[in-house]
Amino acid sequence: MKTQSVHSILLALLAAPLLWSACQHRIDPPGTGDEPLVYEGPCDADVVYFQQDVLPLLVSSCGQSNCHDALSHEDGIVIESYASIMDHNNLVVAGNAAESELIEVLFETGEDRMPPAPNAPLTDEQVAVLTDWIDQGALNLSCSSCDTTAVTYSGSLVPLLTTRCVACHSGASPDGGVDLTSHANVTSAVSYSNLMASIRQDPGAVAMPPAGSALNDCEVRLFEMWIEDGMPNN
Ligand code: HEC
Repeated sequence: MKTQSVHSILLALLAAPLLWSACQHRIDPPGTGDEPLVYEGPCDADVVYFQQDVLPLLVSSCGQSNCHDALSHEDGIVIESYASIMDHNNLVVAGNAAESELIEVLFETGEDRMPPAPNAPLTDEQVAVLTDWIDQGALNLSCSSCDTTAVTYSGSLVPLLTTRCVACHSGASPDGGVDLTSHANVTSAVSYSNLMASIRQDPGAVAMPPAGSALNDCEVRLFEMWIEDGMPNN
């Protein structure tokens, strides 16, 4: 089911550029612009996600200073974002790893090989990540790491609260008088401050977070499962 829905997204994406180019110019089809297309659900092991799998690998092996960062950009190639990589003709030929220079340079000999000595060549797994990403269409995909298989306060909720809520809900005078930095306070916000109505953004509730994207269904589900479990401090 999960795999199927990812595949249908990918199929829709393959068709999208055709429809798009027929009626519109200068607007990037979904997943090909610098804004990642976020697949909301656990990451699928069969799909290569640019944001999670490819960019960190490229930046760490090719984007260091004196190499392909924005300042030094050897050969005019800048490796720091989706757009900067896709801007370069033939570096990545979407759907065709064999024609992509990004893959070719990994197998060059002598000083043309990337990354150049004394750096180690990429491992077989790393090469496979890049090759599969290009063959899958070189899309700018991202997955939400939300995982409902083993929900705990520290492992599931704290990371979410930290990135999405704590900036406003901590310190001496937290917004709305709601502190979300301890188990006791989060428990009390659920019991006395409508936390669930706020994150579900129920009609009439104070929608949280107040700006930016709402928590997705899976993220809301993490809170629900933790509450069903009795809000343990685990
Ligand atoms: C940009 C700042 C900001 C962020 C981020 C934010 N909040 Fe809030 N929050 C507020 C403000 C301001 C209020 C008070 C709003 C009001 O009372 O009208 C508030 C109020 C609340 C309340 C009380 C609602 C009520 O009915 O009284 C809860 C619960 C809450 N936030 C939870 C969250 C959670 C959970 C997150 C993260 C998913 C979050 N907030 C993210 C600013 C923020």
